[in-house]
Amino acid sequence: HKHLIDIAEYSDTDIMTLLETAKAFSEVNRRAIKKVPTLKGKTVVNMFNEPSTRTRSSFELAEKRLSADSLNCGGSSTSTVKGESLIDTVMTLDAYQIDMIIVRDKHAGAPYIITQHSPASVIDAGDGKHGHPTQALLDLYTIWQHRGRIEGLRVGIVGDIGHSRVCGSLIPALKIMGAEVTVVGPGTLMPACPDVLGVDHVNLNLDDVLPDLDVVYMLRIQKERLEGAPFPSLREYHGLYGLTRARERLMRPDALIAHPGPINRGVEFDSHMADHPVRSVILDQVYAGICVRMAALFLLLGGAENGLDS
Ligand code: CP
Repeated sequence: HKHLIDIAEYSDTDIMTLLETAKAFSEVNRRAIKKVPTLKGKTVVNMFNEPSTRTRSSFELAEKRLSADSLNCGGSSTSTVKGESLIDTVMTLDAYQIDMIIVRDKHAGAPYIITQHSPASVIDAGDGKHGHPTQALLDLYTIWQHRGRIEGLRVGIVGDIGHSRVCGSLIPALKIMGAEVTVVGPGTLMPACPDVLGVDHVNLNLDDVLPDLDVVYMLRIQKERLEGAPFPSLREYHGLYGLTRARERLMRPDALIAHPGPINRGVEFDSHMADHPVRSVILDQVYAGICVRMAALFLLLGGAENGLDS
């Protein structure tokens, strides 16, 4: 693959190769000297036109650990505030003979548009309500590391399904890998036709589904994307869909709690569950982010030709 935008273009074998590569990079990340020269001479542009903590920092660290040259050029620090278009910005950066553009943008489809105007490889780091493929891959990696498999696991995704770009990549990724996927949330936060999601079950009642789940994947309420939609208050939401200490008794003893971050404590869950020492894998997901992003850079930029430690 040249790009990582639409996870549905990746087969189960492609995804497993990426997860195995991420596991090898996990070993690199635990060494005293974490750097390998694999992508020396490659130039990667981080174009974050929307805020990010996890995705931006882990991509930047991944590039440094693979010895690529990183260029951070996005958002309000660029000449887009003077009216320069995304396409002109990309053509300008291409003049430097760059190899890859990693883009986060509020407009769904922005990564695809860049591929139409640039010879560089493109990774979607989150586009509008559309997709977030490296998030899906790090979620798969975390589940795989904790449970030893993905196939056959029952994964529930809870919350603001309709506004979630995480769902846009995570649902197809879980289905490609053979998981059983349930989405749970208020009807006001579901897509108009949930059938298009391609999930196994849609349910409006969290308490009905919790006892069956191996992984409870909580989503953040996307307040910035609600656009005045009818919506339960945050207090009502917490009562109906919050993963609370009281609800833990409904969960399987080995069920995991995952969340892409950033988290809203007191909304999608209480701190007891967010910080649960056994069930919560949220910080493991953050660590997986650097391993998976190193793997994506390595595989897309041809690092395999040089070997992992070259
Ligand atoms: N999960 C995620 O994309 O987090 P950031 O917005 O902090 O990158």
